[in-house]
Amino acid sequence: MKVEQPLLQSYQMGDLTLNNRVVMAPMTRNRADNKENAPTDLHVEYYKQRSSAGLIITEGSQVSQRAVGYINTPGIHTEVQVKAWHKVTKAVHEQDGKIFIQLWHCGRISHPKFHNGEKPLAPSAVNPNIKIITPDGEEDSVEPKAMSVSEIKETVQEFKNAAKKAKDAGFEGIELHSSNGYLFHQFFNSNSNIRIDEYGGNIPNRARFLFEVIEAVCEIWPENRIGVRLNPSLNNGAGIIATKETIPTFDYIVEKLNAYDLAYLHLSEPFTDVSEIDYLEPDIAKHYRPIYQGTLMINSGFDQEEGNKVIKEGTADLVSFAKLFISNPDLPERFKAHAPLAEWDSDTFYTPGKKGYTDYPSLEKKD
Ligand SMILES: Cc1cc2nc3c(=O)[nH]c(=O)nc-3n(C[C@H](O)[C@H](O)[C@H](O)COP(=O)(O)O)c2cc1C
Repeated sequence: MKVEQPLLQSYQMGDLTLNNRVVMAPMTRNRADNKENAPTDLHVEYYKQRSSAGLIITEGSQVSQRAVGYINTPGIHTEVQVKAWHKVTKAVHEQDGKIFIQLWHCGRISHPKFHNGEKPLAPSAVNPNIKIITPDGEEDSVEPKAMSVSEIKETVQEFKNAAKKAKDAGFEGIELHSSNGYLFHQFFNSNSNIRIDEYGGNIPNRARFLFEVIEAVCEIWPENRIGVRLNPSLNNGAGIIATKETIPTFDYIVEKLNAYDLAYLHLSEPFTDVSEIDYLEPDIAKHYRPIYQGTLMINSGFDQEEGNKVIKEGTADLVSFAKLFISNPDLPERFKAHAPLAEWDSDTFYTPGKKGYTDYPSLEKKD
């Protein structure tokens, strides 16, 4: 009897049965190019084409207008956006797919041009010193506004509101984008968070905002429909400079996440080579597997062989693929057939329209 590849085995994630372990990772594609920042018919087609993934995680979707940091990204805070996302979830469900939405707040990775001239919000007034793509093109980032405690509390409520809207839009669940240098990550990092109140100064305080948001969204969703994404060894990316406290901070967070019966913990292997930095962790899945007791999803740089290996070895339960899903809408079928994989075109990652978005073909269907 032929043994099925680990990636193609079904997986019981809480009360959801995933058809396979090939997850589509969240990817910003900047196609919500309308006044409302609502998903369009092109989004419906794009996600429908990819619904054979065991689980789709949508692109980062802002939880409020204050959360925006890029042009033409979709939101999940207005009724118009809910209606538009509903078309997406319906199309995916008709194909027997499952879809979570990624809830996003960019924090200081933003620009006053997105906020009527006001500074973006962040834990502290520390400029990330990166380039931001504004409606007028690339510009230098600015010093953000350090959030007041009441602004932090309001932001927690924005996540709760977006979580409710995600439910109305028909998603199976939500993923918190607490990764890749955005607002949550800015709270975790001791260079971007120099607060001296209960949201800064030590590890539990820097993690507090994440856990307040988790508690708030748990009032809307069962714990097993909430995913959390972390990129512990991110360094020199999106304004994050790692420190000696970085891994202990993530160790604390991951241990504390064990108190919740989450859908999954979604981890990224380092985006850059950190093997020479003795205080960063080069093998994220291996390091966190013994610490985290729930479903572990791993990402970054995986191909079919490495994906099968990491599951077979028991280091992760699910593997998420990003760029491969851009150019191979039917990625699980291709893995099954050991078919050639199409190359992605990075020039069209963030450009408007169909090109590089919905025009990558599936394998020809054979009877
Ligand atoms: C075009 C593009 C957009 C991305 N947007 C997001 C995003 O919105 N949210 C997120 O968590 N990660 C985002 N990422 C990171 C991916 O989810 C993933 O971590 C990264 O591409 C590495 O995985 P891969 O090697 O399978 O491509 C994006 C990556 C790409 C290429």
